[in-house]
Amino acid sequence: MKRKIKWGNVVVLTIGVIIIVASLIFLVSKLADDKKEEHINEKEKITEKAKPVITYNDKLIMVLGEKVNLLEGVSAKDEKGETIYVTIEGDYNTDKIGVYKLKYVATDKNDLTTKEDFTLYVLQKLDSVSQKSSSPEFFTTSKGFEGVVINDITYIDGILVANKTYALPESYNPGKLNTIAYAKAQEMLDDSKKEGLNIWIQSGFRSYELQTRLYNGYGQRDGYDKADTYSARPGHSEHQSGLAFDVNEIDYTFDDTPEAKWLSENCSKYGYILRYPKGKTDETGYVYESWHFRYVGEELATKLYNNGEWTTVEDYFGITSKYN
Ligand code: DAL
Ligand code: ZN
Repeated sequence: MKRKIKWGNVVVLTIGVIIIVASLIFLVSKLADDKKEEHINEKEKITEKAKPVITYNDKLIMVLGEKVNLLEGVSAKDEKGETIYVTIEGDYNTDKIGVYKLKYVATDKNDLTTKEDFTLYVLQKLDSVSQKSSSPEFFTTSKGFEGVVINDITYIDGILVANKTYALPESYNPGKLNTIAYAKAQEMLDDSKKEGLNIWIQSGFRSYELQTRLYNGYGQRDGYDKADTYSARPGHSEHQSGLAFDVNEIDYTFDDTPEAKWLSENCSKYGYILRYPKGKTDETGYVYESWHFRYVGEELATKLYNNGEWTTVEDYFGITSKYN
């Protein structure tokens, strides 16, 4: 018996087969495309060149006047591991106290460049104390100045800072005024003499021990709260740093003298500042002292002088002067 062909079924079956085959073709080609893409990515990865790698230290500390090669110990290698040149980007002056933000730069044959940030600290030069340390501690002030503590001495923007917050170690005893500060003071006093003025250094360097005796003497005489307004506790006096001195009478009779006026107007030219200006007790922690001058170098002194409107070290750097 002949079976009758059902054309309807044949059509449905054919369409079904076509759909299945088309889907398979689509799937296979999609998979192939994906593979191809993967392959291209892989290829790109292989042809993408590696940037140079710089070996460096991100913080360098030196003392004013010291000769330091900033590229010593710094090296760079290209993708093949070959050594390439490193240059320094940014402005700095190792003859000026300050903290400089710089970059090491290395460019390879393929013109690929790597830049790495580093900070150079040029410290105020001190006498009779090591300004090197294997474990310096770094911090940034509220106004963005870079600080470093080396052997318990604090430098901000390269300047030694001693106040109620930042102490000096008991062991730090230069024994006399700082060499650079003293030379500048001599120059200043010589020039004041030419103006017919009579200025002398009455109290210069004071050891930790001497400051202890002075402070305790004032404390016993006036009470310690009162003494804290005008005398530094041991370890907190700038006199111990060898970078500060008091002139003439060391009392309020000096305030309105031509000598006081001349010093306030001219000391910044010699790198000195009037350290405890009038009306700035909240910042400095001390009452006005027309006789106390502190060496910070010409750059900072000029900024703080501010045409006679003395800015304090504390306000400028964004630091406190408070016992904890
Ligand atoms: N008179 C200043 C604050 C000192 O004792 O160092
Ligand atoms: Zn003083």
